Amino acid sequence: MTIAPTRRSVLPQTPRKTGAPWRVGVLFSHSGFMSVIEETQLHGTMLAIEEINASGGINGREVVPVAYDPASESAAFGHYAKRLMIEDRITTIFGCYTSSSRKAVLPVVERLNGLLWYPTLYEGFEFSPNIIYTGAAPNQNSVELCRFLIETYGSRFYFVGSDYIYPRESNRIMRELLAANGGSVVGERYLNLRARPQDFLPIIQDLRSTRPDVIFSTVVGDGTIYFYQAYTDSGLDPRTMPIASLTTTEAEIRAMGFDVGEGHITAAPYFEGVESEVSASFVARYKKRYGDDEPTNMCVEAAYFQVHMFAKALEQADSLDTDTLRTMVLGASFQAPQGQVTINSTSSHTDLWTRIGRANRRGQFDIIRQSPAAVRADPFLVGYGRATARG
Ligand code: ACM
Repeated sequence: MTIAPTRRSVLPQTPRKTGAPWRVGVLFSHSGFMSVIEETQLHGTMLAIEEINASGGINGREVVPVAYDPASESAAFGHYAKRLMIEDRITTIFGCYTSSSRKAVLPVVERLNGLLWYPTLYEGFEFSPNIIYTGAAPNQNSVELCRFLIETYGSRFYFVGSDYIYPRESNRIMRELLAANGGSVVGERYLNLRARPQDFLPIIQDLRSTRPDVIFSTVVGDGTIYFYQAYTDSGLDPRTMPIASLTTTEAEIRAMGFDVGEGHITAAPYFEGVESEVSASFVARYKKRYGDDEPTNMCVEAAYFQVHMFAKALEQADSLDTDTLRTMVLGASFQAPQGQVTINSTSSHTDLWTRIGRANRRGQFDIIRQSPAAVRADPFLVGYGRATARG
């Protein structure tokens, strides 16, 4: 796969702006096997930047994104992060979906003192002063998901994942949670990130013979679509053996077909079905910008709200210097579409909502459980608990 050296600038104009623009980096894949979800994060990022510029920019200066397409290649994220920081002289980067791409950018932002805003759920057990984590840590999705699945379907789980750090580490955590709740793992399989539809067939056969109560899938990108389609083609029934995931959003469901996704379970801080004025207004603006058929999802939402949180911090700091900006970011709260979120000042992770959704025939998730408030980020699972940010 070639790495397209594309570079895009968005330069909307409004009369109130003065001074040089604030230039920021954007790194999400718009091609390759991860683009099904990363392109939505690119859209969420651009929508927020356009909104900020339409209301006059930040302190009279517009935000100009410099975006590259890493084409789903982890190493390319590191390469473009370096280019953004050294050649383009940019310090703030919005980007990354896979944990392997984040791990490629981390040493770059640490060495050059940049700030990566990372809007994706991940496996936890990481801290960098140069990363702001706005997706869920395991205590904000896996803990409640495990509890719900055992109560609803049973405690014999089968793990299927893409072969990289997030699935392997998430499964390690889920195995511990299961053991603590009297459950067991009856199978564990990993596939290459570039797996083709036929690669899932042996797994379907294994599911037929082991008959777990739940399939916990950490498959990402295009593989998600092939896996759920193979499941449906084989006649397995989500009412008795659902696929449960932390990554299957409205975007993957749309790509696989609403009938294919129906009945399967996802845990996420945000679903398009969240009922609030902030969410309804966000969804309406997103659809107006990208089309009525384009659903939002948890990854778009995090990509969107983190840019608005950045804008508020930059307004106060009036500087893109990482150390100055970080002071304004840590501890900041924002009324996001999912509800109020806060960037935890000790962990640089975000207090987020926990929700469990079941996909319906319309490609949306019916929300069947949700936390009463944002759940405090506990990326090292110190408490294993669900303390809300209020509690
Ligand atoms: C992920 O790789 N953090 C989904």
